[in-house]
Parts: sequence; C-alpha cells; structure tokens
Amino acid sequence: MGKVLTIHGGVPLKGKVTVRGAKNLVPKAMVAALLGDCPSVLRNVPEIKDVAVVTSLLKIHGVTVTKDEATGDLTMDPSGTKTATSNEIDTHAGDSRIPILFCGPLLHSLGEALIPNLGGCKIGDRPIDFHLDVLRHFGAEIDKAGPFGTTIRAPHGLTGAKISLPYPSVGATEQVLLTAVRAKGTTELENAAVEPEILDLISLLQKMGALITVGRDRVIRVTGVEKLKGYNHKALPDRNEAASWASAALVTKGDIFVEGAIQRNLTSFLHTYRQIGGEFEVTDDGIRFFHPGGELKPLILETDVHPGFMTDWQQPLVVALTQASGVSIIHETVYENRFGFTTALVEMGARVQLHSECLGAIPCRFGQRNFKHSAVITGPTPLTGADIDIPDLRGGFSHLIAALAAEGTSHVTGIELINRGYEKFMEKLTGLGARVEMNELASSL
Ligand code: EPU
Repeated sequence: MGKVLTIHGGVPLKGKVTVRGAKNLVPKAMVAALLGDCPSVLRNVPEIKDVAVVTSLLKIHGVTVTKDEATGDLTMDPSGTKTATSNEIDTHAGDSRIPILFCGPLLHSLGEALIPNLGGCKIGDRPIDFHLDVLRHFGAEIDKAGPFGTTIRAPHGLTGAKISLPYPSVGATEQVLLTAVRAKGTTELENAAVEPEILDLISLLQKMGALITVGRDRVIRVTGVEKLKGYNHKALPDRNEAASWASAALVTKGDIFVEGAIQRNLTSFLHTYRQIGGEFEVTDDGIRFFHPGGELKPLILETDVHPGFMTDWQQPLVVALTQASGVSIIHETVYENRFGFTTALVEMGARVQLHSECLGAIPCRFGQRNFKHSAVITGPTPLTGADIDIPDLRGGFSHLIAALAAEGTSHVTGIELINRGYEKFMEKLTGLGARVEMNELASSL
C-alpha cells in the first residue's frame, strides 16, 4: 500500500543536513566497476533507490557487491561477470535510465548486453538515440526486436571513433567514456558534457588506468587500454540535493547548513540565490543557506548545461520565485517538459503561466514545437496547503517545500519517488523542525 505524507506548513526549516555522494554520479561509478579486472571500492554512497537498483543489476550480471554496514562503502568484484537472463533483466524494466550505461562495459566483458526498457523521471520523451548512435560508432550492433528490451552485440569488438554529439548530453558522454576506455585505439568526443559528475567519473576511470584528456571547447579524448584495474574512490557530494535544501531554506524563511555542499560545483546556483535575495556562507565543511529577511527579488533565468544554471535546480527555485515581488521568467532549455509540476503550485495559490515560445536568448531545441518550456511567475502569492501527487523527483521536492511553507495542511502521495534521489528524507525534514507525519494511504485520507 502507498504512503501519504502529511505536512503542516508554515514552519521555517532550521538546522543541518548532510549530503553524500551524488545521485548523478554514484550509479555510474558503480557501473564503471564492471570495467576493472579486480574489485573497486566506492565510498560516500547514499542510501537511495537508484543505488539499490544498480546494486541489483550488478548482482544479476554476476558482480559480487558487498556493503560495509558501518560506513555504507561498496566493494564490487566483477571477476564473475556473466550474462543475465531475460527474466532477470525484465524485473528491472522501468526502474531507471542507468541500465543503458551497462552497454560498453558488458560488451567489453561478454560481447553482448541486454538492456531492459528504461525508466527515470517523466520530464519529456527522454530518448536514447544519442546512446545508440554512440555505440554504433564503436562498432556495436543494436537489435531492438526482443520482448524484454534491447540486445546489443559487438561481434568484432569495439573500436575508438570520432564522435560529435548533437547536444552535450550527460548520459551520452558517460556512454562514450565507459565504452572508449577499453576500446581499441583513440576516441575523440566533440560537444561533450562536462558536468562535475562527469569529471568525477573521469577521475575514477583515471584511477583504474584509463587514458583520458579533457580539452578545450568540450572535447574529450580517450586512448583505449586493454585492461583496467579496480578503483578506490570517494564520490563527490550531491550538488542537486544541496541546491534543493538551499531553496527549502529560502522558501520557508529558514536557515540550513548543508554539510558536504561544495562551492565550486554550485557557482551559478549561488550567484542566482544571491540575486533573488537569499544569503549563504561558505565554510570548509559545507554551505549555510538562509533567508536574510526582506523581500525576494524576481529574475530572468535560463537553464543550461554546465557551467550554466542546471535544470535540476529549476523546480525548487520556482517555488522561491512565487514569493518574490514581481515577475520572473524561466526558460527551460534542457528538457522540453519540465514545468508540469507548476500545476500543483498554481492549485496552492501560485501564479505561473506556461508558454511554448522561447522566452530567452539561449538557442533552444524546443521553440515552435508546442512544448511549454517557458514559465512566467508572478509573486508574491501566499501558498495554501493542498493534496498533491508527486510527479517526478525534482518537481516532487518543489511540491514538498511549497507545502512546508504553505499555510495549512497538505497531503502528499507518490512520496516514494523522492527516495530515488534524496537520502533519509524524512529524517532530514524532522531534524530541520518540519511538522510532518508519514501514514499508510488508506488510514489517513
Ligand atoms: N537526449 C536525447 N537523446 C539521448 C539522450 C539525451 O535527445 O539519447 C536529450 C534529452 O532528452 C534532454 C537532453 O538531451 O533533452 C539532455 O539529456 P542528458 O542526456 O544530459 O540527461 P541524462 O543523462 O538522461 C542526467 C541526469 C538528470 C539531469 C540531466 C541534465 C542522471 C541519472 N540524470 O540525465 O538528472 O537533469 O543529466 O543534467 O544523471 C535528476 O537528477 O532529477 C535528473 C533528471
């Protein structure tokens, strides 16, 4: 039976939260363990659903995954890597988007990879055409005909290639890295994504013995090697979770110290935070985010690839902008359909209008195509509690902070989605002083 979270709003969140390894790095680092010829150790691993999903995927492929119960560190031994059965694969259909990244490592070890139908947040079509094109460049053959997903084979091995991405996709860049490191010869990737999580993945691949350079203008070059060893790596902390708690502090007029937040990975977020009237203090251990009093200011903002303002920071920030005095405009240029969450905010009292025009200057792939990817937010508007069903990870977090700031009581379902990316979420909320209760669905509504 599902759960319902009851939130009594109006309490400023105050205290400390700790962010651990990034959701957008840790599962990929776990996949990289398949490339080694001896065990890898990953530290700073959060207890989130995506880690559980990838642990299970590794296990069905014969990797021994051992968790140190005291620290949470994972040791992954790929020496028994084997082909998983289609039934085993099928149990992971719709769980996450990470399975597509198993292709390169499995093709190197086994010559074949069976990938389940993918899941992940519903924030647009989320195609995998770049991934499949990349794999074809390396010489892989793709067969989508199977009932359980896609089979990919490399009967003649994988060979390095010159590849240019149509868009600096995070996942497709990771696909290239995880495939090129053991492919024959050299790979050159143009228009690569260079998010901090990608640079951290490169760091751990380098520890394994990979030959990688990151050049000017988003060009990554990899010289394939025959063998890689295991790594011992501490995952970089989750900057998206940090930004979410920062917005929660602002929206609830609170004061939250985010232990583990790293300034250099949040530069454009911090700049924006200060522009709209939030304040922060950077220390060696983390960043304190707080509402310094006074009015919040509206702004014009476009999401972009790194080092721009990240798409995953947009949704919690929109809630803060509903409390700013004036009109804000946000142009979402990474995903075509990432404003669905604003419907619930409007039900709570926010004034948000969505437009299909590009309200911004960044060249965007979604103009003139009927995607409501620009938002005009007029504030300040008081928010009142509501019944909300969470649509996706970041949109869901934004609903929660709206409910935490709102007058009255909200009931939130679909809360399981939050566990995909926010570790010990309930514990953290309670620790910050939120008035929240979790109940079984039937008994409370
Ligand atoms: N795209 C394609 N074809 C592809 C791949 C991507 O058209 O084959 C498009 C996407 O539809 C999107 C754009 O390219 O419009 C960028 O997608 P990207 O590949 O960069 O995203 P991703 O790798 O699927 C990761 C994160 C997302 C984050 C994006 C952008 C993980 C597991 N997910 O997704 O995180 O928003 O990069 O930085 O790393 C989240 O944390 O809530 C989340 C959605």
